Amino acid sequence: QKHLLGIEHLRPDEITAILDLADQYVDLNRRDVKHSDALTGLTQINMFFENSTRTQASFELAGKRLGADVMNMAMQASSIKKGETLIDTAMTLNAMHPDLLVVRHPHSGAVDLLAQKVNCAVLNAGDGRHEHPTQALLDALTIRRAKGRLHRLNIAICGDIAHSRVARSNLILLGKMENRIRLIGPPTLMPSQIGEFGVEVFEDMREGLQDVDVVMMLRLQKERMDGGFIPSEREYYHRYGLDAEKLSHAKDDAIVMHPGPMNRGVEIDGEIADDINRSVIQEQVEMGVAVRMAAMDLLARNLRAERRNQPVEV
Ligand code: CP
Repeated sequence: QKHLLGIEHLRPDEITAILDLADQYVDLNRRDVKHSDALTGLTQINMFFENSTRTQASFELAGKRLGADVMNMAMQASSIKKGETLIDTAMTLNAMHPDLLVVRHPHSGAVDLLAQKVNCAVLNAGDGRHEHPTQALLDALTIRRAKGRLHRLNIAICGDIAHSRVARSNLILLGKMENRIRLIGPPTLMPSQIGEFGVEVFEDMREGLQDVDVVMMLRLQKERMDGGFIPSEREYYHRYGLDAEKLSHAKDDAIVMHPGPMNRGVEIDGEIADDINRSVIQEQVEMGVAVRMAAMDLLARNLRAERRNQPVEV
């Protein structure tokens, strides 16, 4: 693959290859000296048109630990503010010969469009409601390490499915790896085309969580509700917030996940989020660095192979 634009473009064996390499980077990241030369000599530019803590920090750390020259574009201070288009901005940066471009954008499809205009590898760090592929990969690695496998698990994805690129990428990935997926949430927060994914849908948390191995909570994404129905936080927590009583319907060893940023007392009870016997939320963050290292390492190998096969331009 030249780019990492979405899970929909990856085969199961490619997903496994990324996770296997990421496992090696978890070991590297736990050492005193966290350095590899996998990206030495390459330039990585991070362009985030939407706020981020986890994804931006982990892509930056991942690039630096692999030896890349990393530049974070301050998009709020860029010429986008003067009316320059996304494509013109990308073409401008492309003329500076980056090798890896990491892009987050509020519009679905924007990162795919940009990838068609540049000649470096592009990684999607989240585009609108469409995809967040490295989030799904880090979630998959977290599940595989906690459960010892990534197939035939009962996995519940709960909450605001309709506006979530995390849910969409996870649905695709976990489906490709042959897991049984349940979606739990109010009908107002379910996508209309959910039938195409072949999953079970529940309106009731207690019913949906029955005997699941993995409970994946989602944030209420008010910024994407475009003036539509926004549930009251109090009512939402009562019906869909994960607390000890609702979690008791899952398997005794079920793990609790949340991609962050989380709203305690809205999607999840703070004590559940901090319970080290159930919650793997901090592991998800740790896996995020390793997965992004693996993804960039593999794309860089493909980029170098492609360049070796091209005649040198003079
Ligand atoms: N999970 C996630 O994408 O978090 P950030 O928005 O902080 O990057």
